[in-house]
Amino acid sequence: MTPISGVLPEATNHAADIDYIFKFMAVAAMAIFLIVEGFLLYFVLKYRMRPGDDPEALGSNIHGNTRLELVWSAIPALFLIVLSGMCYKVYFDIIAPHADAYVIDVTASQFSWTCTHPEYNVTEYSSCHMPMGEQITLNLKATDVIHSFWVPEFRVKQDAVPGYPTRMHFETTRVGTYHLICAEFCGVGHAYMRANVYVMTKSDFLAWIKQQQQAQAAPVGQVSFKKDIETLFAAHCMACHISNNLGGLSLATYNGLLKGGAIVPGSVFKAGDHKDSVIWKIIQPGTGQPGGNRMPLGGPYLSSHDINTIAAWIDQGAKNN
Ligand code: CUA
Repeated sequence: MTPISGVLPEATNHAADIDYIFKFMAVAAMAIFLIVEGFLLYFVLKYRMRPGDDPEALGSNIHGNTRLELVWSAIPALFLIVLSGMCYKVYFDIIAPHADAYVIDVTASQFSWTCTHPEYNVTEYSSCHMPMGEQITLNLKATDVIHSFWVPEFRVKQDAVPGYPTRMHFETTRVGTYHLICAEFCGVGHAYMRANVYVMTKSDFLAWIKQQQQAQAAPVGQVSFKKDIETLFAAHCMACHISNNLGGLSLATYNGLLKGGAIVPGSVFKAGDHKDSVIWKIIQPGTGQPGGNRMPLGGPYLSSHDINTIAAWIDQGAKNN
């Protein structure tokens, strides 16, 4: 029976167990529905009013039936005990840590996800790569409000809570690209707080890690907006600044961002002088926000390579090329 996994693949070791509980509940609920509605229909037909019956007639008053009441209390109680047992078993499987698990630090901020691979010193934004067939431990933290890490194909879900580190364990069982969705309402950009999760074979994963390490170490040369800057904006700024209602950054022209410059002191871009450009000041981790606007800069933010790229782009004239 695959009504769930046929639509939504099972991508972790917990998925089949959780689907089983769903199916168990669905079948039990269906059986209860059929029994209750069946008796209802039967009584409606059997005791319907027939021609010649007295329309004012009163039915007999029946009080109490201890045996019946015990039975209809005991059956649901037994059902709940069985269900609790099943759930506890799966729950303890989910929360059990594994000593040799591959660790990923996940930071949730309004409104983006950041995944850091401490073993390789690689950080990625709005995506999360992980190897297939391995135990994974996610260390979750939130920099502002409560968010929730949810990948439907993984079936498991865990809140990220400010000031309270949380953890999540699973084994990846299926190569693929999945959607990471924030499942806790966290503000105006909640609906945009999505990222891709890539489960790759171990060799593909290690190749990706190597590629990231090389990219981080590469010197910054000639910078192109389309190639180097737009992806950074898309990963970091877009969730809040995509529309006119939310700060007015248009990625096509970044006119909105320049318009935003009216409320912050100084120029947004000063060609040849990135240190005096508001945009460059804003992207420094741990700095105050010019104009008093709050941006989620508390977490692991742009890598130094990203910041150098933006600095070079400003110095090269902040062109839309
Ligand atoms: Cu973060 Cu909803």
